Parts: sequence; C-alpha cells; structure tokens
Amino acid sequence: MCGIVGYVGRAEAAPLLLHGLKKLEYRGYDSAGIAVVEPHLHIYKTQGRIADLEALLTEGVPPGSLGIGHTRWATHGRPSWENAHPHCDCSGQIAVVHNGIIENYLELRKKLEGEGHVFRSETDTEVVSHLVEKYYAGDLCRAVQAAVTQLKGSYALAVVSSRHPNELIAVRHDSPLVIGVGEGEYYLASDIPALLDFTRTAYILDDGQVARITRESVAVFNQHGAEQLPQTMHISWDPVQAEKEGYAHFMLKEIHEQPRAIRQTLAGRLGVGGALRLAEEIPADFVRGITNVHLIACGTAYHAALYGAYLLQECTDLQVHVELASEYRYKRTRVNDRTLAIAISQSGETADTLGAMRKAKAAGARILAITNVVGSTLAREADAVMYTHAGPEIAVASTKAYTAQLCSLCLLAAYLQQHSQGTYDPDLLRGLLEIPDQMASIFQTCEARIKEYSWERLAAVSDTFFLGRGLDLASAMEGQLKLKEIAYIHAEALAAGELKHGTLALIEPGVPVVALATQPHLLDKLLSNLREVKARHGEVFLIAMDRQRDFSQAADEVLLVPRTYPMLAPLLTVLPMQLMAYYTATARGCDVDKPRNLAKSVTVE
Ligand code: G6P
Repeated sequence: MCGIVGYVGRAEAAPLLLHGLKKLEYRGYDSAGIAVVEPHLHIYKTQGRIADLEALLTEGVPPGSLGIGHTRWATHGRPSWENAHPHCDCSGQIAVVHNGIIENYLELRKKLEGEGHVFRSETDTEVVSHLVEKYYAGDLCRAVQAAVTQLKGSYALAVVSSRHPNELIAVRHDSPLVIGVGEGEYYLASDIPALLDFTRTAYILDDGQVARITRESVAVFNQHGAEQLPQTMHISWDPVQAEKEGYAHFMLKEIHEQPRAIRQTLAGRLGVGGALRLAEEIPADFVRGITNVHLIACGTAYHAALYGAYLLQECTDLQVHVELASEYRYKRTRVNDRTLAIAISQSGETADTLGAMRKAKAAGARILAITNVVGSTLAREADAVMYTHAGPEIAVASTKAYTAQLCSLCLLAAYLQQHSQGTYDPDLLRGLLEIPDQMASIFQTCEARIKEYSWERLAAVSDTFFLGRGLDLASAMEGQLKLKEIAYIHAEALAAGELKHGTLALIEPGVPVVALATQPHLLDKLLSNLREVKARHGEVFLIAMDRQRDFSQAADEVLLVPRTYPMLAPLLTVLPMQLMAYYTATARGCDVDKPRNLAKSVTVE
C-alpha cells in the first residue's frame, strides 16, 4: 500500500511530483523515487525520505513535463535503492510505479528471464515493466493493456515511456487511483491528499480500467479494451479529512480496511478452493523435524500469539508454548534445535520481542518472524519471515495488523499440520477466503448498533468485563485491551469459567459484560456462566454466531456475526469490539489515534 503520483501537462513535472509525494508522507514509507521524461527517462530514487530525493535534484531538475513518482512501503524485497520504484525495462525506456501485490510475479519473472529479460530488483513490480516491454509494438497503452492480462493480484500502476513524451498510462485493479483534472494538464494519484493543492476535480478510475492520459485529454478503457466515459467527482474534503479518506480517525479507517488487509495477506498464499502456497517463504526444510513451538509477542500481537497457540494445539501434535516476550526473556526456557520460535510483531521493532527472539535463537531455535514491516529488525534477524501485508498502520491501537496476524497464523497452522500429518483441513482455508466479505457485512449490519451501545452505555461506565472460553478468550483479551488503551475504561478479560473463582464478586447491577460465544463445543458452558452474571443483574452484550440458539436468558443484547468455521470466528468477532472501543473513546472525547502514555512502537524494555 504505497503511494503513486503522476503528471502530464506543460509545467515542470519534477517539483509537482515531489509536492504530491510529500502529501503522502503521512502514510509511512521506506523509499521513494520519480521518473521524468525529457527526452530520455531520468530516474531519481532513494532509500530514505522525500527530502533526500529532493536533495538529489538540487543540481537542477530535468525540465520534462511528464513523470511519475512513488513512495514505497516494502512488500516484496527489502527497502533499498534497487527495490525503490520506478522500475524500468531492459532498454531503460519504460518506467513503472505500482501499488499492491502481483501474486504470480515469480512465475512471470522466471518466464521473462527465460526470454532474456534482465531484472535488477527483488520486487514483484519489475515484472510489469518487462511485460510492457515484451508487448510493446509502438502503442504504449496497448502494451500495458496486454501486460495486465498476465497479472494476478491487486495493482494500481502508472507507466511512462521516453518514446511517448505526452502519455501517462494508469491502471486500476483492486487498488485505488484518481486522475486530477487541471487546465491543459492532469495529475494522477493513489490518494486524494496528493491532488488537493492542484485541483478539486477528479476522475475516479473503476476497477479494471486503463486510462491513457495526455495533456489534452483522458481516454478510459475497460478490461476488454472498450472505451468508457470516466466519472468525474468534486473533492470537498479538507487536507486532514483527505489523509483519513474522509474517516474521522486513522483508527476507524484502518478498522474498515480489514477486508482489504486480509485479501492482501492471503494474496498468493491461498489459491481458489483453498490450496496452500507457503513453501517459498517458509521452506519445507526449515520446519522439518520440529517438535515444539514457542510463540512470543507483546500487546495485541501477544493476543494473536494466544490464538496461534490454540490453533497449533488443535491442528498439530506439536508441543506449544506461548509467552509474553517480556517474561520469556528472563525465564528458563526449554529450547533446542527442534524448537520453532515464532516471534509476532506488527512493527518488528518491539524491544522485548527482539530480546526474546534473540534469546531463543542463541539457544538454537529456528526463528520465524510474523511482521508487517519489511526490512524491520525482526525480519532481518529471523531465519524465515511471513509478512502480514496489512499495509501501514498509523493509529497507535493495532487493528488491521492484528487480524492480518490471525490470518497469517491460520495459514501457518495449516502448513505445519500438512508437514506433521501430511494433510490439513481444507474447510479452514476455504472459510478464510470468505472472511473479507464477511467482515464487510459486519460494518453494514452492526456498526450503527455498536455506536449506539457505545455512546449510550459503555461511555459512562468505569469498569467492564470481557468473557470467553477457548479461542474466544484470546479475542476477549484483545477486546478489553482496545477499550483500555483508547477509551481509558478499566476492562478485564477472563476465561468465563474463572468468573466463579473470585471476580463474580465485582458483578453488580448494570456492570457491562461483553461475552463471546462462537465455539459450539463450549456454548452451553459459556451460557451457564452468563446466567451467573444475569442473576447478579450484570448487563451482558453477547457476540455470537449461532442463529438457531435462543440467547434471551443469558444476554441483554445479542449481536450476530456471519457464520464461519469456529476456528476463524476471532477474525470476525474482534471487529465489533474494535468499533466498541473506537466509539466509546470518541464519546468520551479521547484522542483516538494517539492515546495517552502509549507509543506505536515500543523500542525500550
Ligand atoms: C505497543 C503498541 C501496541 C502493540 C505492541 C506490540 O504497545 O501500542 O499496539 O500491540 O506495542 O507492538 P508490535 O509492533 O511488536 O506488534
């Protein structure tokens, strides 16, 4: 989820591209670059900030009035000068910038290399420039159209060629792209903030469309090559609203980005029908012979680790141990060369997680990192890495990175099951493919109700409890952490069966209890725990899945999430709890994106 800008007109492109890129800096990036046509391609790239890119141009900018630019958030290949966009073809005449993931890039690359193309980066993007070169026969737009028929995955692309000094080609497929309309000039951007200082009129490209943009006009084609009328829109957002795509906070935007984040996590790893492809990231030799697994993490990532541990216990015969990284570091741990240590961290920079990972490594464990940040310390020091591909997460409270971690752990559990037992449960993986649409339906059907409950009930209380059993317990822990960290309300998660061993004393009339009931084999037990709460006039908000069951004796409010495989339920039930925390925090006037006393990445012990 990188940033794209483009320009074609009469002004000097380079300063305009840099200006647009600066407006995308808030999204986070690890490298940046531009290409300007005048008359050859001039490419400037840096593994660093836009300011570093600007410094490269102090000697004078190329005067061309056609160009593209990019901020990269690494997905394939570490952050480096070579991997920064734009990427060129062999002849150095075609330049491409790309957002998204090309799922079949390895096969394409192999084929193109076999045909003599020479690659210079580790990115998935570079296959596009070589494909355009392959199909080029005098018409750049046609070559791009032919190239995209070969691509699988999600992509927004901007392409220029020194042979076409008045032509900017844009493609949108599952990754946004808008064309800003000027006078005798057009701007291209993946995100509206990059356009706002230039224009408020834009064409929104639809999925599958290809646009041929010159300084005089824009022609838009569908995937079959038929010309279509582009839709115009007036942008009324102010710059701050635009950064958040109109959402009031980054956290709300990121909560809503979860369907897309999960699609990205699955991209290239799960084929139609649930065929699993992980061997490129986690080679078979790497997991061969392991007998025990240690999962280590902090905060939200620790709750993902709890989920992963539960799954591995269910799916494999491996001995599974899960621990907070800050505890693991200073404990006697039984690690040997048959231990797989899985360190989970959104940022890949959390000091305790790094410390725990180094301890396991020194004791001989094989280290697998699950992280969202390519090139992070954790990724660099681990023996194998599984990237979550959730895209940059800006709000301090983790949301989309968490569900992407759960999704990654599901894939991993199936993979380890396949290695230890020769087979895995295809229903689990088939169910995973449905999760993005099911998440989207939760926003449609439940958000208004959760908002009302949060504003009217939760915002006024000082204590809450979150209950669950089995896998639901890990979700309950994540739900309570969200409420504490952004709404500053005391929340306690516990295994529902533990309530009777002390905490029941705190259940008084009106105390809110959020309960999760998605695990069929534990449902009766959970419902009897909830009746204990109801008997003391506690107020139960139940998040459940079973539509046949009558919950009226056990809960005051019932919110049903779509039916999924029980092991996947945590990917859905966490959404209402994230929204609950968010709306409760806004009702209390809290600074949602930057909660007090918390940092996004905790690099101290
Ligand atoms: C901090 C953040 C949390 C995060 C935790 C672990 O406490 O505020 O949102 O879950 O660190 O971060 P990591 O980057 O290792 O997942």
